[in-house]
Amino acid sequence: MQSTILQMLREHPGDFVSGEAMCNTLGVSRTAVWKHIKDLQDAGYQIEAVRNKGYRLQSSPDLVTAAEIRDGLSTTVLGQTIVYRETIDSTNNLAQELANNGAMEGTLVIADEQQQGRGRRGRNWFSPPHSGVWMSLILRPQLPLAHAAQITLVTAIALAKALTRLTGVQAGIKWPNDILFNKKKCCGILTEMHAEFDQIHHLVLGIGINVNVPQEDFPEDIQHIATSLQAVKGTPIPRAKVVQVVLEELEPLYRQYVADGGFGTLRDQWKAHNITLGNEIIAHTAQGTIQGRALDIDEFGVLLVEQPDGEQKKIYSADIMF
Ligand code: BTN
Repeated sequence: MQSTILQMLREHPGDFVSGEAMCNTLGVSRTAVWKHIKDLQDAGYQIEAVRNKGYRLQSSPDLVTAAEIRDGLSTTVLGQTIVYRETIDSTNNLAQELANNGAMEGTLVIADEQQQGRGRRGRNWFSPPHSGVWMSLILRPQLPLAHAAQITLVTAIALAKALTRLTGVQAGIKWPNDILFNKKKCCGILTEMHAEFDQIHHLVLGIGINVNVPQEDFPEDIQHIATSLQAVKGTPIPRAKVVQVVLEELEPLYRQYVADGGFGTLRDQWKAHNITLGNEIIAHTAQGTIQGRALDIDEFGVLLVEQPDGEQKKIYSADIMF
């Protein structure tokens, strides 16, 4: 009901919407409308109330609630269902649970704050309130298991495009799952999977973006390697806008990935946004450390590295440094 009220107010920017119109649309009493207006005001919306005129929206707070994300979202699959929590352990956990209970493809789980945000390789992901986008998408691609991990590379393309658009500064992809500005990380991807035999049941695509995190708020151990969109752009960016742009960039790429049966046809786009290839890198893999020059990625997203002795190695999964 609150989101319908918001929608009505937003459809008349700068104008009053009468209490009567709201009562008629919602089929509730004036007192009920007033109560919802009060709740919206408590949540930070500035709404002017004038007798005999009605209500006028003056400004909205920086929230990532379903109502804020839905307003102006142009996707048709991603984010059609939105589950919002003010605080949560990890959005990936709730997304897994919902997916196991049959949640629809494209369902978005998002929280203002994560108490136990997870990064790759068991690391913590710093997820303070009011300043980031901490979200997980439930996907059900009809693809063989071998192609599942490539969704991370597809998502990285979408994120690089979205964050470049939002800041006006070129974002770069560090293989496999980091988005960097000037060598500092502002965004990471954590893909988790549920599969049986050779078939993917669902993927949970976790995305963390430091949007308006003040630089001094990052914990000491990541101060020098982390950044936020606000620091890059110089001004805060509404977080719901960030979510919308990311979903809008991701949807067509995801569609292509599913239709073409993998990442292959998106490889050139990945290369256009990458900052990995051509660098001397150190890759920490589960099997040990590999050092050499990052030459290329293949159509499966595997990284090809040339070692100092000329031998070429394929890297399937690693943390890399350069
Ligand atoms: C990484 O770079 O290590 C991946 C970070 C992924 C963080 C996101 S935030 C939303 C989702 N929920 C989590 O607990 N982690 C992912």
